[in-house]
Amino acid sequence: DAAQLDEIYAFAVQLGKDAGRMLLEAAEARYNGLSGANGDDAHVEKMNSVDLVTQTDEDVEAYIKDQISHRYPSHKFIGEETYSKGASKDYLIDDEPTWCVDPLDGTVNYIHLFPMFCVSIGFIVNSKPTIGVIYAPFLKQLFSSCTGKGAWLNESQRLPLMRNPIPPMPPNAPKGCVFACEWGKDRRDRPDSNLHRKVESFVNMAAEIGGREGKGGMVHGVRSLGSATLDLAYVAMGSVDIWWEGGCWEWDVAAGIAILQEAGGLVTTANPPPDFETVKIEEARLGSRLYLAIRPAGPSGDESARQGQ
Ligand code: IPD
Repeated sequence: DAAQLDEIYAFAVQLGKDAGRMLLEAAEARYNGLSGANGDDAHVEKMNSVDLVTQTDEDVEAYIKDQISHRYPSHKFIGEETYSKGASKDYLIDDEPTWCVDPLDGTVNYIHLFPMFCVSIGFIVNSKPTIGVIYAPFLKQLFSSCTGKGAWLNESQRLPLMRNPIPPMPPNAPKGCVFACEWGKDRRDRPDSNLHRKVESFVNMAAEIGGREGKGGMVHGVRSLGSATLDLAYVAMGSVDIWWEGGCWEWDVAAGIAILQEAGGLVTTANPPPDFETVKIEEARLGSRLYLAIRPAGPSGDESARQGQ
């Protein structure tokens, strides 16, 4: 019920703050070259040499899982590192209340001290991302949402942040847009691989080839921040117009989808632009792997802003 959801929301926000603080302390220890558990946080390879995990991923996930199981013992838990260790029997998303957590999204960024890393906590009810909390402690950005309660930055600024009311998407999008896409972890060098399709779509959108603009027109900018979760948060903010990635896992997107949808944006399964005009708007389900997110297009949900008051 609504009161219970409010309580879960408050718990999730506090959990995100605490976990984010752990990430920040660990990052500072790395940065300062301190010894000790986190100062000596060497990474280990999982599937391949770009799929990495650190002790911090593990510690933060264990902390979050522990807090949740104490407070809500009947809820299901899906976490990136728990899954990697083979706990896949609990993995399917069904109608049970489920927490879906990436303790450290942007692990490569964290390892290289590139500031775009965060904790991502999603709460799913009846297979729908319902609560989202994303905290990027280095950037001091806390994104949060609960269905029906708006999406927020640092609990005080309503999303989308920018240009209130936010202008419509350029009619010939992706031309004139900021487009974000990640490189992912599948780096197989095959013409039909994800990587090749991504590079091709970057080029199609960004390049002026032989004096002619790319098929869909030129995008203003192509960005790869290194965190699918933060990409979604920035689409919700209105700073990124379009984000696309093939190969995401549930924990990369659960919290971000909750926040983006609550901000009035759209997340769908579709191939990337330049097919933008023909994109089939089929609502993304968790488990799709392929996601295309589009920023809120019209006036924000804020009534007074809509009326220009
Ligand atoms: C990864 C990042 C990356 C995206 C991958 C994710 P991780 O998550 O979000 O940007 O391209 O698909 O798996 O490993 O840093 O938690």
